[in-house]
Amino acid sequence: MNQAIYQARRTELARRIGPQGIAILPTAPEQQRNRDADFLFRHDSYFYYLSGFAEPKAWLVVTGDGRSTLFCNPKDVEREIWDGFRAGPEAAPALLGVDAAFSVNDLDAQMPRLLDGRDAVWFPFATHQGLESRVDGWLGSLRSRVRFGALTPETQRDLCGALDEMRLVKDVHEQATMRRAAQISAGAHIRAMRLSAQMLREGKEVREYHLDAELLHEFRRHGSQYPAYGSIVAAGANACVLHYRADEGLVRDGELVLIDAGCELDGYASDITRTFPANGKFSGPQRALYDLVLASQAAAVAATQAGARFTDPHEATVKVLSQGMLDLGLLDKNKVGSLEDVIEKRAYFQFYMHRTGHWLGMDVHDCGAYTEPSEIGNKTERRDALTGETLISRPARILRPGMVLTIEPGLYVRPAEGVPEQFHHIGIRIEDDAIVTDSGCELISRDVPVDADAIEALMRG
Ligand code: GLY
Ligand code: MN
Ligand code: MN
Repeated sequence: MNQAIYQARRTELARRIGPQGIAILPTAPEQQRNRDADFLFRHDSYFYYLSGFAEPKAWLVVTGDGRSTLFCNPKDVEREIWDGFRAGPEAAPALLGVDAAFSVNDLDAQMPRLLDGRDAVWFPFATHQGLESRVDGWLGSLRSRVRFGALTPETQRDLCGALDEMRLVKDVHEQATMRRAAQISAGAHIRAMRLSAQMLREGKEVREYHLDAELLHEFRRHGSQYPAYGSIVAAGANACVLHYRADEGLVRDGELVLIDAGCELDGYASDITRTFPANGKFSGPQRALYDLVLASQAAAVAATQAGARFTDPHEATVKVLSQGMLDLGLLDKNKVGSLEDVIEKRAYFQFYMHRTGHWLGMDVHDCGAYTEPSEIGNKTERRDALTGETLISRPARILRPGMVLTIEPGLYVRPAEGVPEQFHHIGIRIEDDAIVTDSGCELISRDVPVDADAIEALMRG
């Protein structure tokens, strides 16, 4: 492990919490699945970002003087026979570069001492159940010793804000890991596309789980620990269910398949969607909608660069999609009016009801404010054209080099009056992962093609 990366992050955090501050951060809890089977443990992203330590039941404390203390499972020969290796507090300083380490069983004994004399205590608000009362308990214990000279912090601060800002811009190490994660995921998409066409050519029954198995196989064989989120493998009309999960639906010759899947590699997510013809050949109506989504994605990509706003790619997408909906007759000009009306009244929402992207990083929907911190006072109110709700908005985040986001327009056509039948039940999304650069963006997920001809070519075998 590269200790220096984590040490530099802890030093930066210490700077942000001030010389008398203290930051307290637990990793994620272990989660029971059923009876005595647990879900696979996944560390807390903030915790891992600062420690690189993936064991459960661990805590990290960083003080404003730059010192860090780890609490972790103690060595225990019997438990290690059952559950596996534990680094243990004796080895942790050399392993992780922390200044001190204790058994997690000593947390209640040590925390009041660590809190003594600090002016502000920082911990993540509203993310770890019961954390506030743990901190309260330590503060109460410290206060009971004020007559002996103890000093309690006067302020509690949300640690998420400080860490979100740090995590939003990815360093070169993070970018390299994310490139690799995206490459693995791209290979998995290619594999699933090829298998679909091949099985149909051989006259076999294809189910969504066959394609899901290809994804998993490719993720794991390249060292990915797990999928970054539940893979969506949606055949035919299932693609119009936005949060559909890979199930047992039949993959039919002549229909499209939408796969939204990405692996997690060493703590970093990738998030790719491709939509392809199950048999390797787009029909006319499928191709018309596909090319429209692709054109809208190209417009979003062109709008993604340092200095642009986070909302610029979405607005570029909406413009292209809305014009296409009018041109293809999904929307009737006589009913919805001009392009400006479609956008203003959000008529496109019938077929495009999600945003065009999100931050990507350790979490698939990564942390980071979507509003520009220097402009949060600049509020505007507007009435939503569809719901009539009054919404408050603030200027969107200005993109900077090293921010990573997805670009993922789509079209989802459910049957409705006036909607041409040839488009019914077609759901399409194209999603790529982009690192913002000074002059534009680097698409790190393009090892799997998006162009319709290129997809057909690769599915020919
Ligand atoms: N796979 C989750 C998303 O695309 O946002
Ligand atoms: Mn996404
Ligand atoms: Mn996705």
